Amino acid sequence: MTSLPVVAIAGATGRLGKPTTEAFLSSKWNSNFKQVVILSRSASLPDHEAWLKAGAILRTYSDDETSLKQVLEGVNILVNV
Ligand SMILES: NC(=O)c1ccc[n+]([C@@H]2O[C@H](COP(=O)([O-])OP(=O)(O)OC[C@H]3O[C@@H](n4cnc5c(N)ncnc54)[C@H](OP(=O)(O)O)[C@@H]3O)[C@@H](O)[C@H]2O)c1
Repeated sequence: MTSLPVVAIAGATGRLGKPTTEAFLSSKWNSNFKQVVILSRSASLPDHEAWLKAGAILRTYSDDETSLKQVLEGVNILVNV
């Protein structure tokens, strides 16, 4: 059996990223993914707790290659909003 992909969303907290992330986490689509990973430069997402409750996880990164490699570990699909 093929395992489900892990999808990471960069820019999730932005104007376009918010509805995009909500679509990935919706009951219509979330069963297609093993994990939805929110990528953000901020470790605190007070306006997005519902996403974490819906099963998403948050990974924070900074603008350097090492950090990007770390947050993309195990990620099969990157959505860059
Ligand atoms: N909104 C529109 O109508 C529209 C139309 C056409 C094209 N676009 C393009 O679509 C993209 C997203 O637009 P948006 O309106 O959703 O933008 P936005 O509200 O400013 O959100 C951008 C997101 O990208 C993340 N980000 C990562 N690195 C960044 C950096 N160095 N500077 C700023 N943000 C950074 C931020 O998330 P964290 O702070 O959590 O890291 C932020 O929430 C942009 O490239 C924009 O030019 C937008």
